[in-house]
Amino acid sequence: MASSRSLLVDCHTHIYPPSYMDLMRKRTEIPRVHTAPDGQEKVILLKEEAHGDGSNSQGRPVGPQYWDRAEKIKFMDTHGIDVSIVSLANPWLDFLTPDEAVKAARDLNLDIQQYCSTYPSEASTSSSQFSPQTSNRLFAFGSLPLVPGVETSKVLEAIEQIKSLSHVRGVVMGTRGVGKGLDDEAMEPIWKALADSGLVVFVHPHYGVEGAFGEQDNGHVLALALGFPFETTIAIARLILYGVLDRYPTLRLLLAHSAGALPALSSRLSSCVVHDPTVKDRLQHDFRYYLGQMWYDAVTYGPEELALTERVVSRADKYEGKDEHLAYVDRGVFPGVDRIMFGTDHPFFPPLDGEGTRWKSVDENLDAIAGVAGWSGTERSKVMGRNAVELFGIEL
Ligand code: URA
Ligand code: ZN
Repeated sequence: MASSRSLLVDCHTHIYPPSYMDLMRKRTEIPRVHTAPDGQEKVILLKEEAHGDGSNSQGRPVGPQYWDRAEKIKFMDTHGIDVSIVSLANPWLDFLTPDEAVKAARDLNLDIQQYCSTYPSEASTSSSQFSPQTSNRLFAFGSLPLVPGVETSKVLEAIEQIKSLSHVRGVVMGTRGVGKGLDDEAMEPIWKALADSGLVVFVHPHYGVEGAFGEQDNGHVLALALGFPFETTIAIARLILYGVLDRYPTLRLLLAHSAGALPALSSRLSSCVVHDPTVKDRLQHDFRYYLGQMWYDAVTYGPEELALTERVVSRADKYEGKDEHLAYVDRGVFPGVDRIMFGTDHPFFPPLDGEGTRWKSVDENLDAIAGVAGWSGTERSKVMGRNAVELFGIEL
């Protein structure tokens, strides 16, 4: 069918498969799923949800939106999303022992391949304006057994498994690596294997940052709006400062929530690097160069914030020794656009007033893409879907 609108690909959308829900229901400590006194199943993920009598103490509602594929497709159809690249939601396998994590990763990767590759089932009634080959509306990031004490060979086996699964095009990971962060020597063979594999590595926060600097109950606002993005900011700054992108320049990192504060703070980071005797000779390039080596979701909720990410990523060319940067801006050409991709964070952030048709959290991110000053239809359609088609090798 001919199309009058842009292809829409959601690169940030989560699931908890039934086997993962079972793992969480069995637990008595966070992360866990429990049935709250109101009869509703709730997921308790964050430290501040685990104790006290504040508004967070029972966790957040969790229902079929998290595991039922028909619900994902319904959500996609409601919002005109043609293709989704689903990932296990936080906190992934972080709470398991090495043996448990190795087994869970293997099983979950098969589950997620099945979830994607067997769509549509005969009973399915969903549609996409683009009708990508019908089995190609769902793709996935796989899971790795990234827990303290795991044997590196087991992580490398999981990467091999994922490479063999037709609909799994990347891996999702948190910011702790195998326990000590993303700037840990133990991660080196894993980065190498991921860089060689061509898989996209979706880096997503879970833990937030310590220190609330106050006492008032603000629900989940500070943890999700600030703690999450600052966690990503710090983890990726550390990864860059450790030289990971110098050693593995083909690594394809996709950063959640547009990398948090990293774009806004990249010049400050650059300045601190060159003024610091410990770090000043460590990197091959100016710190800002590395922002042009990564990919970003467009989950910013505002056009100005999205423009900031794009301008900073566009500027990275300047540090490749090219002089054309100013010319780009003068000509209204935005190379950073090629590295930014629409996402929803579904099924998190549903409307609070129950089942409306469209979700405000989705529309704000679509409006942000529509509202960036200077972008033409070409830039918008890249961010809405064309970039993801290219990065993930989606066959339409
Ligand atoms: N809250 C979470 O715990 N995870 C997300 O991905 C988004 C919101
Ligand atoms: Zn998310």
